[in-house]
Amino acid sequence: MNFLETPLPVAEHKTSKGIVKFRLAELSDIDRLSLAFLGSDSEPEDAPAPSEEFLDLTRRFFKHLINSGSVAIVGILDDEIVAMVYVDLLERQKPKSRIKVDRPTGIIERVRSVIEREGVGQALLYNAEALIVRAGLVAAEIGVKATNERARKMYEKAGYQVILNGHIELLPDFEGYSIFRYEPPSQVMFKSLVS
Ligand SMILES: CC(C)(COP(=O)(O)OP(=O)(O)OC[C@H]1O[C@@H](n2cnc3c(N)ncnc32)[C@H](O)[C@@H]1OP(=O)(O)O)[C@@H](O)C(=O)NCCC(=O)NCCS
Repeated sequence: MNFLETPLPVAEHKTSKGIVKFRLAELSDIDRLSLAFLGSDSEPEDAPAPSEEFLDLTRRFFKHLINSGSVAIVGILDDEIVAMVYVDLLERQKPKSRIKVDRPTGIIERVRSVIEREGVGQALLYNAEALIVRAGLVAAEIGVKATNERARKMYEKAGYQVILNGHIELLPDFEGYSIFRYEPPSQVMFKSLVS
């Protein structure tokens, strides 16, 4: 059994809407993601709805992330995806990684829960950290927009500290589009997962 087949430590989390069950995502999950998971977390509330073309591009990009080694976790409630996070276990271990880390580090990305303030985000984070540790890595990295107060509060509460401010990291172009992992006003936070 490899570490990805081991059940997640928080397999279930009780909310006022019902029990959210967590498991690793499959490629087919991407096709049933609701709009909440396909938009950017930096869009203002009144931003125009994204085009079908953009949504399809985003779905293809998410599948590309999983196909190129990222692991994703979904939270399911009543057969709907209500929470998701991606974990990149490979990038910081590459000699050409844009951020040089002094210890094996996993990147947690795109943390999102549509049920708010009921501990689902924390459960996602906990499961993502467990995957990083099971992969033999010892630290976690998360980028957050400086303006995203609620996300930063959650990461601070979980023990993350801001180490880099205003960092820019560009991923390889995808279908001709530039994709930023981090762009100003980003902050990059780290947490040691070993004592
Ligand atoms: C950020 C997000 C994942 C938090 O998920 P959540 O399920 O609401 O988080 P939790 O209930 O587990 O809360 C954990 C902690 O985060 C902080 N937090 C969460 N929402 C908050 C808010 N609206 N205001 C202030 N702090 C907040 C609190 O410290 C909270 O602990 P507490 O409730 O015991 O005080 C969710 O709001 C979300 O999906 N936001 C949109 C996408 C996004 O911005 N993702 C982050 C990308 S970096």
